[in-house]
Amino acid sequence: MLNKEKFGSNFKWGTTICAFQNEGWANSDNKGQSIWDDFTSDAKNIKNNDAINNASNFYKDYEKDIRIASSLNLNTFRFSLSWTRIFPNGKGEINPEGVKFYHKVIDCCIENNLEPWITLYHWDLPKKLEELGGWTTRSIINWFSEYANFCSNEYGEKVKHWIVLNEPMSFTGLGYFMGYHAPGKTGISNFLKAAHHTALCNADGARIIRKNVKNAIIGTAFSCSYVKPINKSRLNKKSAQRVEVMLNRFYLEPTLGLGYPTDVMPGLNMINRYFKDGDLERLKFDFDFIGIQYYFRVVTKFSLFPPVLFASEIEPKKRTRNLNTMGLEVYPQGLSKVLQFYNQYDGIKNIIITESGVCYDDHLTNGKIYDIKRLRYHRRMLKEILKCKKKGINITGYFIWTLIDNFEWREGFEPRFGLVHNNFETQKRTIKYSGLWFRKFLRI
Ligand code: BGC
Repeated sequence: MLNKEKFGSNFKWGTTICAFQNEGWANSDNKGQSIWDDFTSDAKNIKNNDAINNASNFYKDYEKDIRIASSLNLNTFRFSLSWTRIFPNGKGEINPEGVKFYHKVIDCCIENNLEPWITLYHWDLPKKLEELGGWTTRSIINWFSEYANFCSNEYGEKVKHWIVLNEPMSFTGLGYFMGYHAPGKTGISNFLKAAHHTALCNADGARIIRKNVKNAIIGTAFSCSYVKPINKSRLNKKSAQRVEVMLNRFYLEPTLGLGYPTDVMPGLNMINRYFKDGDLERLKFDFDFIGIQYYFRVVTKFSLFPPVLFASEIEPKKRTRNLNTMGLEVYPQGLSKVLQFYNQYDGIKNIIITESGVCYDDHLTNGKIYDIKRLRYHRRMLKEILKCKKKGINITGYFIWTLIDNFEWREGFEPRFGLVHNNFETQKRTIKYSGLWFRKFLRI
């Protein structure tokens, strides 16, 4: 039986939202443009040519949404800051209206008994900084430090929980290697440069928060997957190890002081080109927790392309019918595997599931949404967590992705992940059955 008490009285129950995916009002109150405002301005980049418009209107509806989160009996609320609301040009001049907006969000969380958790960076780099090279230039370390310094000083009195980056592998891999996400750059050298600077910002940003915020609890959020080879042949097994390097180890190991994981992927040594004296040490930070975000399993086989990786993925639709609306495999039992994998590292003291969710087609029937498959998914994830806690793994929080259906990057509005349905034309919220279940489950 699932029972809230089994998770412990200090367990964090939250939802995660993201500035770009939720706020809307990208041109209001002196906000500057981000790479995602730019990328989505070309409808061809987005599935079904969806225009983001006002996303799910969090900029105007934040009070309503925070009250809904509180009514579900959650105890935390994770949101990201939009860099360009605060620094319209990415650096230099501050925009007081943007600064004020996040004070209002934080105050509203506190009034509604939700502990505010800030993510500094959830993919919306200022466009002006991208024009100067973005993550591929080492100057980003100064720009990011200025941003981290300002935000932690400004909000640190009220906010004690900080997440430096959201899924560095997603935004550098998709944005600077595959060109699938903003800013649409491609190639190994763009990727390695962006990756190394990102890893440095991850640790530097955390150090800045440590210095500025008394009693801060600092983490960073990594994407991860359960990776399995298609069979046990030596070549295929090795392909899975390399994919695991990219999906699960690449950003974690340098923060733990282990350097980049070049053991099974010597080609990655190319990243040394971008090193300066002292970088190995500078990449390290003793995080209070590691956020993990597990959505799907990946099955691999050996392949000559792409070079360095020498692996490809067997498309989920060719091997399973358990798919979400984005065509990714729904495989909640993989969570235990990744938790066990992370637990092998001595440097990880505390794990928090900083995002977890699934998208399905949801239909309103007589004003209600009976999203039983989503509910089953979350319940299964919670059971996996309990299994791991019993084995002694220190997992102290579960953040659902996401509160309200929102804008799913390149996939537009089609994938719905929320506990709360949104009608994007009227911005009307309807709590889904999964949300109502959490409300009951978390009742004191
Ligand atoms: C990201 C979110 C995204 C979610 C669902 C995570 O990788 O942090 O921004 O919406 O996955 O795809």
